[in-house]
Amino acid sequence: MAADVWDSSLYDDRHSFVWKAGSDLLGLLDPQPGERILDVGCGTGHLTAQIAEKGADVVGLDASLSMVAQARQNFPKLKFQLADVRDFQVDGLFDAVFSNAALHWVREAESAIGSMARVLKPGGRLVLEMGGQGNIARVMAGTEAVLRGAGYRAEHTWYFPSIGEYASLLEKHGFLVRLAQNFGRWTQLEHPERGLREWLEMFGGAYFEDVPKDRRDGLVRAIEERLRPELWCDGSWFADYRRLRVVAERP
Ligand code: BEZ
Repeated sequence: MAADVWDSSLYDDRHSFVWKAGSDLLGLLDPQPGERILDVGCGTGHLTAQIAEKGADVVGLDASLSMVAQARQNFPKLKFQLADVRDFQVDGLFDAVFSNAALHWVREAESAIGSMARVLKPGGRLVLEMGGQGNIARVMAGTEAVLRGAGYRAEHTWYFPSIGEYASLLEKHGFLVRLAQNFGRWTQLEHPERGLREWLEMFGGAYFEDVPKDRRDGLVRAIEERLRPELWCDGSWFADYRRLRVVAERP
């Protein structure tokens, strides 16, 4: 993902559902006091802080300067590092690598998996959740139909692999896959009327790259109208998230 496409205060203010939904992944990580844990794609650091609360020695890593700056401001006592998961240097090895809602931004999945394998101790674990096959299928179909109908490319940069694809890549890099799940988690967006629009502004920038600024508002309104019958319910917008959750071990 490009380093600074992120508005980290908007992320904390309007999209906190991202890390709130990831809290339950911490149960699978089960951090122990004294363990060294790397949080890949830590964003504004909220889950990093929850890992630290368990007594682990945690380092949060993110490719966005804005996210790392906000994480340091939110949690000044914790360690955060600006780095790209495809290629990074850290001191020492880790007992666990954790990642929530970040790896679907990394199309070069093999580079990311290779780097995560390299920093794990033998016997170390990888616990991750990301968008999986079928993730936001309705959001994507509606957005692409409207943008392409208006003559734009409507290309995105996400990577939503199937269980089979991601597990095979992990095995290729020597991991033993202990658990792999793909499950739906429709997620209520934070602002009642502007929820879908704000989600597209925060996360869907690639779709609008070739759309002139003065045409964007009208197209977003058309996307809202197209998706309202499917994704608007009881006064709120929902995103049709599907998660890929994996626990794997480095032998
Ligand atoms: C996700 O968490 O699945 C996601 C978030 C933003 C854009 C695309 C996917």
